[in-house]
Amino acid sequence: MSFDKNILCVGAGYVGGPTMVMIADKCPQYRVELVDVNQARIDAWNSDHLPIYEPGLDQIVRRCRGRNLFFSTDVDLAIRKSDMIFVSVNTPTKTFGQGAGQASDLQYVERTARKILECAKSDKIVIEKSTLPVRTAEAIKRILHSGGSDVHFDVLSNPEFLAEGTAIQDLLQPDRVLIGCDDTERGKAALEELASIYANWVPPDRIVRTNIWSSELAKLVANAFLAQRVSSINTISALCEATGAQVDEVAHAIGLDSRIGPRFLKASIGFGGSCFKKDILNLVYIARSLALNEVADYWEQVVRVNEWQQDRFVRQMIAEMFNTLAGKRIAVFGFAFKADTGDTRQSPAIRVCKELLDERAELRITDPKALANARLELGENELIEYVTDPYRAAEGAHAVALVTDWQLYRDLDYQRIYRSMTKPAFLFDGRNLLDHQALFHLGFNVVPIGKPRLVHF
Ligand code: UDX
Ligand code: UDX
Repeated sequence: MSFDKNILCVGAGYVGGPTMVMIADKCPQYRVELVDVNQARIDAWNSDHLPIYEPGLDQIVRRCRGRNLFFSTDVDLAIRKSDMIFVSVNTPTKTFGQGAGQASDLQYVERTARKILECAKSDKIVIEKSTLPVRTAEAIKRILHSGGSDVHFDVLSNPEFLAEGTAIQDLLQPDRVLIGCDDTERGKAALEELASIYANWVPPDRIVRTNIWSSELAKLVANAFLAQRVSSINTISALCEATGAQVDEVAHAIGLDSRIGPRFLKASIGFGGSCFKKDILNLVYIARSLALNEVADYWEQVVRVNEWQQDRFVRQMIAEMFNTLAGKRIAVFGFAFKADTGDTRQSPAIRVCKELLDERAELRITDPKALANARLELGENELIEYVTDPYRAAEGAHAVALVTDWQLYRDLDYQRIYRSMTKPAFLFDGRNLLDHQALFHLGFNVVPIGKPRLVHF
């Protein structure tokens, strides 16, 4: 069978995976391939147990796999065959050298660019899908054109705005698809070629064309603004606790102002995920390297507030539970950075659990999808048990700390949980997910975020 185009994506992770699966589903006329250096990941994509949990993903993979969607580790061959290459390898925050703790580690992106240069025998469009500091496309372009060969590469920026847990819906009906290109005839032609892929299902007015730097920067700024809303409302949660205001009432009242809008105003234990912190720190690093210190300080504060909110949660637990957690058992409900994902990168659960362990608390951690990742984050330890059943996690515990907003935690039988716990039983709701009044009437001492605590003594 022959296809109109060969589309390749390097990096079969949370971003590359669902994005390519959607393109394959919507465009049966193209051959779509995902390659990854991680053999286990590719094997999982080729099996019934996909490497990432994303509602709705399974069905689409089953529909397309083997038809026009393929997964492999043969990067060299795949590059040779392709017309368009998406680069979606990870770009973690650097842990070493200059910019450690803030700048992005671009070694995988650079390695991928060199690999493309080495293997390509014909012209390619290379699409930057990973979130990268502004002006990385320039670096990729320089590497790709360092070979002195006749092969020509056009580099585009096409940042992904999908959120985990809703990736399929976000890809199906994106608010916008953003594509940045070089301001040249060739660059614009390459952009139109990529736009024509999305045009198979995205309305034309949602496809936004910009220059390459605007596109790169817009991705960082979108995440910084979203994270800023969460940090903003979290600062207000502390103010509410101190005054008797209720943070969800405040959020509702301000969210009705159409200029503010209702979304991303949910007070919480803090934001997590692979992008927010990394992208803000990227912005901070860029601002500082341009000597824009006030700009850097302003955005850095969004990350600081997020850490403060997590620490505040633990401080509150200690204060409520008679200033000692040593030897007390705490059931941690949820470890993923949010509901509907097994991803634990930058999850507030990590910092919170580590602080609780520092207090010598005994943790029973439960999560419907993220226990394997939780184990990788915290390891084995005589103070930690990983359990699938939330009822068992709560048995004999002095407190439940709800960290992830999984719907299933709302539907549990809290009477049964209360009966099985050590008294006085505490419930710290880091997501304001539960019915606090009802829990209080069952006997729990309830400590929500940004609302008055409900205690029996
Ligand atoms: C990544 C980035 O972290 C994010 O900034 C960007 O917006 C999109 O890509 P994600 O898909 O969540 O996000 O990362 P991850 O799930 O770690 O996937 C990256 C994949 O690339 C991994 O499976 C890894 O094995 C693979 N990889 C990495 C390669 O195939 N080659 C490499 O050289 C490096
Ligand atoms: C985010 C962006 O939404 C997405 O567009 C981008 O491509 C990648 O980064 P993601 O990290 O998957 O997506 O999750 P998101 O839904 O944005 O949530 C991030 C964190 O903020 C989660 O920990 C979530 O629980 C928290 N959050 C979100 C709140 O605490 N309150 C809110 O009101 C919203």
